[in-house]
Amino acid sequence: MTITSPKSWIAGSSGPLTGELTVPGDKSISHRAIMLAALADGSSRIKGFLEGEDTRATAAIFRQLGVRIEGPRPGVRIVHGVGIDGLRVPDAPLNCGNSGTAMRLLTGLLAGQRIDCMLAGDASLTRRPMRRVVEPLARMGARIDTGSDGVPPLRIHAVPSLQGIDFTPPMASAQVKSAVLLAGLRARGTTCVHEPQPTRDYTERMLAAFGWPIDFAPGHARLDGGHRLRATDVDVPADFSSAAFFIVAATLVPGSSLLLRRVGINSRRVGLLHVLRQMGADIEEQAVRVQGGEPVADLRVRHAQLRGIDVPHAHIADMIDEFPAFFVAAACAEGSTVLTGAAELRVKESDRIAAMATGLRALGVAVEESPDGACIHPSPLQGGRIDSLGDHRIAMAFAVAAQCANGAVRIDDVDNVATSFPGFAELAASTGMQLRRLG
Ligand code: S3P
Repeated sequence: MTITSPKSWIAGSSGPLTGELTVPGDKSISHRAIMLAALADGSSRIKGFLEGEDTRATAAIFRQLGVRIEGPRPGVRIVHGVGIDGLRVPDAPLNCGNSGTAMRLLTGLLAGQRIDCMLAGDASLTRRPMRRVVEPLARMGARIDTGSDGVPPLRIHAVPSLQGIDFTPPMASAQVKSAVLLAGLRARGTTCVHEPQPTRDYTERMLAAFGWPIDFAPGHARLDGGHRLRATDVDVPADFSSAAFFIVAATLVPGSSLLLRRVGINSRRVGLLHVLRQMGADIEEQAVRVQGGEPVADLRVRHAQLRGIDVPHAHIADMIDEFPAFFVAAACAEGSTVLTGAAELRVKESDRIAAMATGLRALGVAVEESPDGACIHPSPLQGGRIDSLGDHRIAMAFAVAAQCANGAVRIDDVDNVATSFPGFAELAASTGMQLRRLG
């Protein structure tokens, strides 16, 4: 008797990817919209909200903190803000699930709220480093206990007040920057963050949209405590990181021509576009416009033969979530690709350098790992079996790889795709990708 796991996909090589699609809403913006709307005075309407497990966890946490949030239909949330000092003490731990963004941003946001609470997460999140936020917050006067080795759960203790800081994070991280800025809302004086490399600026842009005075430019942000947030409506664009899987798939499969609608193209997110174009990709930005304060475009992606590249360091932070898809593109290029300076990939939902190297090797590609990157030597992809390690982006990357493989690819442990991209398998199949659930 064969027992098939309900948590697996089987995928194989496809014909051209064609048609039009809209991927779900941006995860980073959806989290931040709930957070700032919850702390605002008045009611905010969020449109295009990502109905993923990560962002729903953030909404559930704010309900526990006393915020009324309505969901009249999928993709819409109406958040009745309680004001900057209106959260109530929760009666149970706050469960961030798989989401590093939820945990790190909430740690900053809650550090100065004068409430005792506990932040917990799933097995993957419980292995992820939190000292990167706890240390600067402690310098601001926060009291936060971590598990051993600085991992979750985190216990936040009520403190009378925080003090602003001038902070240079050791790594390029929007989550660290955002945690410190959100703590700065409740701190005395000025909080400044200077980044080693600019990272996504959604926290800064959204604070400004909610009426909080803030100065920011790429790599720098500065705000004072003591203001209030004004409710506003948020229009969330389609998530570039979700679009990335289709961008790579349509580039790799001969004959493809795919249109991805309303994709967010904030310049801190589109490093992958620059690098793929340098490799020879054919990606056209059509109808570029500003929607809800964010630049969006329809992306027309046509098949193209890629050439290997030494990934420019300047683009790494701007494509930090796209490396699983990028490794697949590199594996199908002509000539080797070299990546260095990307050690942060080792502390994502999985160790993404190891996960991609192991998976690509299982499909017949030679990959040499280094502590901060990899060298990928392309060869025709074979069928094989992949363990996604419960990492949503590893699972989706190998679904893309399978479209170019000479045999069937089985991808195990795919449930976590629902954290960022519910409905991925169905949407992929609608473009012509060969992908179905097992079991
Ligand atoms: C995010 C920042 C990035 C990214 C994550 C979302 C955010 O993490 O990997 O998926 O919304 O701020 P780091 O800031 O740790 O690089």
